[in-house]
Amino acid sequence: MIDISAEISGIHFNSCIYNASGPLDATLDELNNIGYSNACGILMKSCTILPREGNPEPRYKDIDGGSINSMGLPNMGYKYYLDIIPSLMKFNKPVIASIAGQNLDEYKQMIEAFNSSKVDILEINLSCPNIVGKPQIGYDFEMSEEIIKMCREVSKKPWGLKLPPYFDFVHFEQMASILNGSKPDFIVCINSIGNALFIDWEKEQVVIKPKGGFGGLGGKYIKPTALANVRKFYELLNKNIKIIGVGGIYTGVDAFEFILSGASLLQLGTSFAQEGPKVFQRVSEELKSVMIQKGYQNLQDFKGKLKVID
Ligand SMILES: Cc1cc2nc3c(=O)[nH]c(=O)nc-3n(C[C@H](O)[C@H](O)[C@H](O)COP(=O)(O)O)c2cc1C
Repeated sequence: MIDISAEISGIHFNSCIYNASGPLDATLDELNNIGYSNACGILMKSCTILPREGNPEPRYKDIDGGSINSMGLPNMGYKYYLDIIPSLMKFNKPVIASIAGQNLDEYKQMIEAFNSSKVDILEINLSCPNIVGKPQIGYDFEMSEEIIKMCREVSKKPWGLKLPPYFDFVHFEQMASILNGSKPDFIVCINSIGNALFIDWEKEQVVIKPKGGFGGLGGKYIKPTALANVRKFYELLNKNIKIIGVGGIYTGVDAFEFILSGASLLQLGTSFAQEGPKVFQRVSEELKSVMIQKGYQNLQDFKGKLKVID
């Protein structure tokens, strides 16, 4: 029997593959579709204090190797997500809230509100690249540290951080030292690579409207960066901080590579947006096939065991 189950701080997941926050998870109908699918958890759209319409359309575009988006966090506001948690409990899988404040007080207010709900886990989003005029918090190490320390004090649920991609070893080390100090239950690597540009050369035009066409990159283009972030944090973090991998996972082999790099669970963003809810079963089955080929029975058999060349 091949076992791809996973857990975070005592919360059991019957597989290791579920949705990333963002695509197709903003309304109860969409979240129900995730509930009925083979996703092992239900992660809700990043929420803000007030509902947001997001940026003007077109703001998402499928590209051959992935996607570009500048959604600008369209969501129903955190109270909506608090209200629908009871109806998502029927699926008997962990329900995860994603929280995107604009400052420390907003994060705190939302964490306190979700503390008194039945939500299982909190994912604190430090990395939205698409709010016009706002830098990503995850690139401001002082501000990140303040928020992370507050999460440690305030959250009564297992909690973790959705991080932007880092590219410089010094930045990995700075963030890892903050994380090892504040001990989140997990981190999620990576959010979209910010401010990419696609061009429709025939029209001589950008493909999305906000920010002059600049947007967050997802899909196959970002897998090597996502793997590098998972691996580097796996090397630097205390082993009780779990790593959730996201970025360009389309196949069982992609999933295998993320776990080999040190991920414990995996999220699908662009591949879910492009293929719909059946993607969770397909990728899970493909991962199991790879494990059978390799003679592995569970994720611990190969998690983090990436070989380097001596
Ligand atoms: C349309 C869209 C909306 C997104 N919205 C959010 C969001 O609200 N919160 C968040 O943490 N990440 C958001 N993301 C980023 C994804 O969760 C994910 O980190 C990123 O797309 C990389 O994964 P992928 O290559 O599987 O798409 C969004 C991505 C897309 C494509």
